[in-house]
Amino acid sequence: MLITLEQLTKRFGATLAVDRLDLEVRPGRVTGFLGPNGAGKSTTLRMILGLDRPTSGRALLDGRPYSAYEWPLRKVGALLEAKAAHPGRTGRDHLRAMARSNGIAPGRVDEVLEMAGLGGAARKRSGTYSLGMGQRLGIAGALLGDPPVLILDEPVNGLDPDGVRWIRGLTRDLAAEGRTVLVSSHLLSEMQVTADHLIVIGHGRLLADAPLDRILAGHASLEDAYYTLTDGSALR
Ligand SMILES: Nc1ncnc2c1ncn2[C@@H]1O[C@H](COP(=O)(O)OP(=O)(O)OP(=O)(O)O)[C@@H](O)[C@H]1O
Ligand SMILES: [Mg+2]
Repeated sequence: MLITLEQLTKRFGATLAVDRLDLEVRPGRVTGFLGPNGAGKSTTLRMILGLDRPTSGRALLDGRPYSAYEWPLRKVGALLEAKAAHPGRTGRDHLRAMARSNGIAPGRVDEVLEMAGLGGAARKRSGTYSLGMGQRLGIAGALLGDPPVLILDEPVNGLDPDGVRWIRGLTRDLAAEGRTVLVSSHLLSEMQVTADHLIVIGHGRLLADAPLDRILAGHASLEDAYYTLTDGSALR
């Protein structure tokens, strides 16, 4: 599936969080989404998922807005920044409720819990989870509907080295299967070994939309390229 942003714009009062973004996120590759704190990454992802309404422009999935899909979890799996699970529910019950509301077989819940390394904690209340366990539950939720599109906002945040390696392999495998994988991150060394393509924004505006190789050309590392691209765009 193709994600298309057309002049996508979001204003919060005096803050122009996302400024006329025009781009396509294509299937079959890992697209890294980079930019300084406050650049507008999460807001962009939230608009793709219909959680924030654009001030103008639009975000489409294969030409239709997210809200047009009857079983959204089977089209787009998403991990966002905020903790989504009710703290009093077990991880397993949280995922079972998500599955039920999207016509997903209950057996899939234990599958994704195992994939996420949460088999042992599945029957504990999610409110007792550590930061990394909460992230793993969020990623399990994103995988639940076996979706053709994955949108992950800082998925490795709080993950241990095994978890970071898991996400690297997982995102690459999902892209190799022909899925559309869009991942935001501040960990540039990790992005350098994970992403095929990069989108960089600053102050809501597009700074770069190019294959990793092209962004790296002439630079010692992605970190080096990033500082050149975002110079003057860092949080003021
Ligand atoms: N609900 C909101 N109300 C008001 N302003 C908001 C809201 N959500 C985001 N913003 C503002 O929009 C801008 C973009 O924020 P956003 O969270 O999209 O950045 P980000 O690129 O995800 O940053 P980070 O790397 O820190 O996660 C910031 O100036 C932020 O303060
Ligand atoms: Mg963010």
